[in-house]
Amino acid sequence: MSERTLVLVKPDGVSRGLVGEVISRIERKGLRLVALELRNVARSVAEEHYAEHKDKPFFGDLLEFITSGPLVAAIVEGPRAVAAFRQLAGGTDPVEKATPGTLRGDYALETQFNLVHGSDSVESAERELKLWFPDN
Ligand code: CMP
Repeated sequence: MSERTLVLVKPDGVSRGLVGEVISRIERKGLRLVALELRNVARSVAEEHYAEHKDKPFFGDLLEFITSGPLVAAIVEGPRAVAAFRQLAGGTDPVEKATPGTLRGDYALETQFNLVHGSDSVESAERELKLWFPDN
């Protein structure tokens, strides 16, 4: 059964010119792009998106970073799309968790600047897609 996930190419990925690489890997995996947009995220949207981290010590820095420049937001669809994109992304910590061959394993060094975001569950995907793409 097909499902949908939210993918973000974070400001580090956009400024480093890695949008094409991320999109290419999504497409090569067999996942489908349903929506794709370059945008600047409002602080209120970022706060809601990362609400579960609001008590973490890195919350302020995270908001600062995610609103620091344009990012790419996408709806990605396919069988087990949530898990499939997380496989492509690799673990949150690009050195300790992400393995070579994954986006973070290949292109990132620091947990904060970890290139991409993908919804971590089907429930999170539903919540995040409503927030980022209310008309879809
Ligand atoms: P993401 O998958 O977008 O979800 C939460 C984000 O918080 C995560 O990617 C990282 O960018 C960031 N994050 C998680 N842990 C840390 C940390 N220890 N220090 C800085 N940023 C973090």
